[in-house]
Amino acid sequence: MRRGTSMRRLAWATDIHLNFVRGDVRAFCEQLRSVSPDALIITGDISEAPTLARHLGELDRALWMPTWIVLGNHDFYGGSFRAVRAEVGNLCRNSKRLRYLPGEGVVWLGGEVAMVGHDGWADGRLGDFLRSQVVLNDYFMIDDLAGLDVKKRREKLHKLGDEAAAHFRRVLPRALDRYRNVIVATHVPPFREACFHEGKIADDEHLPHFACAALGEALRQVMRARPEQRMLVLCGHTHSRGEARILPNLLVRTGGAIYGQPGLADVVDTQAFESLFAAGGG
Ligand SMILES: [Fe+2]
Ligand SMILES: [Fe+2]
Repeated sequence: MRRGTSMRRLAWATDIHLNFVRGDVRAFCEQLRSVSPDALIITGDISEAPTLARHLGELDRALWMPTWIVLGNHDFYGGSFRAVRAEVGNLCRNSKRLRYLPGEGVVWLGGEVAMVGHDGWADGRLGDFLRSQVVLNDYFMIDDLAGLDVKKRREKLHKLGDEAAAHFRRVLPRALDRYRNVIVATHVPPFREACFHEGKIADDEHLPHFACAALGEALRQVMRARPEQRMLVLCGHTHSRGEARILPNLLVRTGGAIYGQPGLADVVDTQAFESLFAAGGG
């Protein structure tokens, strides 16, 4: 937990997939500059394992504000969970700006708003995993998932979802005992209602691979017990934008994305945080 300069304008980007971008990160950074953010959060799918360090290095050199990241499934393509997280952790320790949010615990942004985050993972629990014909590249291109039969794959996905939920069960009380409001940053939508796919709620074919039910359950439980406090979840993964009100005090924004055109999903004004809940829910 840290105190420092208040960060009023938090820019949010997701699924920037820099490995699909021709040239460098300049156009993306220009877009950021135009909204004058005090800080940036990127909710995963930044690149792929063999190019992730290079792309994070480019961002580090081009950006000028504190930047937190969580990783998405694509960030592990061509690598393993352990190796990629170790590489990113190391890179962030040597950077003035970049921070891997899961390792940071609770980050104070300003006023009564803190931020916590974890990569998250689609845990196979929503929709119909066994009947689903959807086979993500995750299941071939990530060392830890490659070669698993369907039963073992499902066990592994459950475990990954449980790890994400456990992280938030650990850090959220620390954040919410101290601050009134919290931003949760994660890659995968934690609720069916927030799992937008091509403009609609994802179907039972896609949900097992697109949503993290274990995390949703944890977040719902925490916020039900704290009706006077508020949580905004920022996520991506499905590349389809939308907003879902899960509880009066629990709002989820899922960011849209287009391969090869990294952009800004939104800017959150931490000083007007509570007004999001008055107007939100649509
Ligand atoms: Fe993505
Ligand atoms: Fe993703």
